[in-house]
Amino acid sequence: MKKRLIAVMSLVLIFSLSFGGMIAAETETAANTNPEFIDWFNESFNWMTVENGSWSHDPADQISDEELEIILDMAMKQQTAVHWTPYFMIAVTDVEEQRKILGDMWDDPENVATEGTVTVLVLADQILSQEEGHVSEYKDYYMQVPHYAYYDSGQASALMSVAANALGYSTHYFGSINGEYAPFDITGVNEETGEEYAYQSMDRYVKDEYMRTWGFMNPFDGEVNEDYVYPVKGNAVFVCAIVIGKPAADETIESWGTNHARPKNWAIWEE
Ligand SMILES: Cc1cc2nc3c(=O)[nH]c(=O)nc-3n(C[C@H](O)[C@H](O)[C@H](O)COP(=O)(O)O)c2cc1C
Repeated sequence: MKKRLIAVMSLVLIFSLSFGGMIAAETETAANTNPEFIDWFNESFNWMTVENGSWSHDPADQISDEELEIILDMAMKQQTAVHWTPYFMIAVTDVEEQRKILGDMWDDPENVATEGTVTVLVLADQILSQEEGHVSEYKDYYMQVPHYAYYDSGQASALMSVAANALGYSTHYFGSINGEYAPFDITGVNEETGEEYAYQSMDRYVKDEYMRTWGFMNPFDGEVNEDYVYPVKGNAVFVCAIVIGKPAADETIESWGTNHARPKNWAIWEE
């Protein structure tokens, strides 16, 4: 594992040396500030998780396809390890489909998704091993790295949420779902511990033509090399489902929002 990490870090260094200068030259960061955005973000409370059962049922409140494109595109800007960009996001707009994805593990399906919500499925590649059925051949730096895949998917999800917040929508994340359209259909047994495990392929929603691209191996604004494009089907598995919507009009922030601490779990270290 240590060897693999060193290999990865070397690749990062090589690529940052070759591309770093080019990108810096194209970016004018000094004039591009927006500190008001942070105040707005904090004070909007759009970042609060919407309680199951507090969603608007009004179809007029459902995020539009145009807005979905904006927030999904923003999610793709996230920097990731070796810019593997392992995630692939699929937006499901039909309410019955959303309910059959999320199931009843956390609440009545009627409460977890409504005619006013959209559920974004976050899948990720590089979690499954070849033995578990990963269909594309891992080769060189295209490798099984679940810890990065989960971490990077989380980062991209957070960025997507911020974009949704900026358009007036809030979210509720689901790491565990039990709907009939979300079966645990990839199973195995850990050879060392004997422990059984399972993944959700979300096959119903993964079309054959859905492809994910490895960002690092392609230029920021240029032609994509097909050697670094992989099918989602058979490679990516479920990481998280993110319900996006607006709280019901008759609710107040005290009733629609979860109310949990945002502790200052950080430090600025000085010797
Ligand atoms: C990675 C992740 C997985 C989550 N999984 C679930 C879930 O399976 N079911 C659920 O109802 N909420 C889930 N949540 C939502 C949290 O439970 C929710 O944000 C929690 O109530 C904390 O509320 P807060 O936003 O006020 O901190 C998840 C959140 C995250 C970030």
